[in-house]
Amino acid sequence: MTEPLQPPFHTIQWDGGLDGTLLVLDQRKLPAEVRFLPCRTVEDIMEAIRTLAVRGAPAIGIAAAFGLCIGLSQAKPDSISRALTAIEDAAARLAVSRPTAVNLFWALERMKKTAYCFVEQNPRADVQDLRRHLLKQAHTILQEDIDTCRAIGEHGESLIPDGGGILTHCNAGALATAGIGTALGILYTAHRYGKHFSVYVDETRPLLQGARLTAWELSQFGIRPTLICDNMAASLMKAGKISAVLVGADRIAANGDTANKIGTLGLSILAAHFQIPFYVAAPTSTFDLSIPSGQFIPIEHRSPDEVCSFRNLRIAPPDAEGYNPAFDVTDAERISAVITEKGILRPPLEKAIRQILGTK
Ligand code: MRU
Repeated sequence: MTEPLQPPFHTIQWDGGLDGTLLVLDQRKLPAEVRFLPCRTVEDIMEAIRTLAVRGAPAIGIAAAFGLCIGLSQAKPDSISRALTAIEDAAARLAVSRPTAVNLFWALERMKKTAYCFVEQNPRADVQDLRRHLLKQAHTILQEDIDTCRAIGEHGESLIPDGGGILTHCNAGALATAGIGTALGILYTAHRYGKHFSVYVDETRPLLQGARLTAWELSQFGIRPTLICDNMAASLMKAGKISAVLVGADRIAANGDTANKIGTLGLSILAAHFQIPFYVAAPTSTFDLSIPSGQFIPIEHRSPDEVCSFRNLRIAPPDAEGYNPAFDVTDAERISAVITEKGILRPPLEKAIRQILGTK
């Protein structure tokens, strides 16, 4: 049997035991420096998420799960009821670090539920027992993400045409997960199976996740990226260079509408125009069935300085205002398929989502 595909670096890892530290690969420094940022407090984790030191929907969720463990150890509660209060308090603080990726809220809810169930089922348990149980759950979430990425890769690789050109946006790779990534995990799996294809990477303004992160990451996996500016996609499609668009997701509503990095919507419209398949890869933890459609997805607005400046150097005139929505929503009708760890969902997505999540 062949060894499972492994990322050549660890984006997020727990160092130590109960009083350990969360180490995140600091994505603000890439590609110039590979440096790990130690997070020892809830504030450290909030700051890491807010400033995109750790980013990408699944990685944010994993960081938040360990953040609750850290919050509990910081609070040093002397009773189970105070421990539950500390967990609620840490969860409330972590929940405001970024609004769009639902994996953050999914992970916090799962951790809180784990804590309440444990206390209910183990009335004699003390705070240390609860801490151990929660840390185990955070490790489970991390391991599940590794397995999920592999499964997405296996399901999705059949969609990658041998000899084709794939366009991707932002970073939905190993840097955004604990495993090989979602959209990029599909490319690594296809590459491993011997397929040959070109990967075009949108630079992804304003924070350049494509240029700084995806291009770096693809090279680490042995795939040479071709970097393009965001405004070049239409011309490449017209020239016949793109056989599929493949992106990740931050939140998928019950009808299949999908929030992802700003610019994804435009790519979906271009892909429809040029009759190119448009694929979304995401774990089922990215589905939010509490909202019927994309209009209810909260969109993060970031500082206008990110648009008006480049690396702290002002590029726009002083009186120009910046506008900086970090995500947009692609309508379900323009998505050719969603690749999850449970299989490939085809339109009509609303029905396929209900079936795969068992909520017929
Ligand atoms: O602002 P970011 O860099 O966190 O945005 C990330 C994305 O839009 C990704 O495509 C998405 O989170 C999927 S990651 C597997």
